[in-house]
Amino acid sequence: MPKLIVVTREGVESTVEAETGLSVMEVVRDSGFDELLALCGGCCSCATCHVYVDPAFADKLPPMSEDENDLLDSSDHRNETSRLSCQVTMTPDLDGMRVTIAAED
Ligand code: FES
Repeated sequence: MPKLIVVTREGVESTVEAETGLSVMEVVRDSGFDELLALCGGCCSCATCHVYVDPAFADKLPPMSEDENDLLDSSDHRNETSRLSCQVTMTPDLDGMRVTIAAED
C-alpha cells in the first residue's frame, strides 16, 4: 500500500498507510489527524482540508478544478503548493508524498 507522510501544523511528521482510491483528505482524517477539519466531507465546498503538497509530486497530482482554485483563493494561507486534499486521490504514483496541513483560516 502506498505511504503518505503527514506533517501537522506543529511540524510533527508521521508516515501512514494510504489506501489507493481514497482521497488524501480521507487518509489523513482516518489516520486520526483531527486538525484537518474537512467540514464538507469532501465535496469541494469548505477549504478546511487545505494542505501543502511536496513540490516533487506536483506533476503527479490530478489537475486542479476551477472550484478548487476558487476555494483556495479564499484562503489567506495559499501558496504555490496548496491543494484541497479531498481533491487528490491516492494512487501508487503518490507513494511517499509529503503533505503538510495548512494553517487554519
Ligand atoms: S473537505 Fe471540504 S473542500 Fe475538501
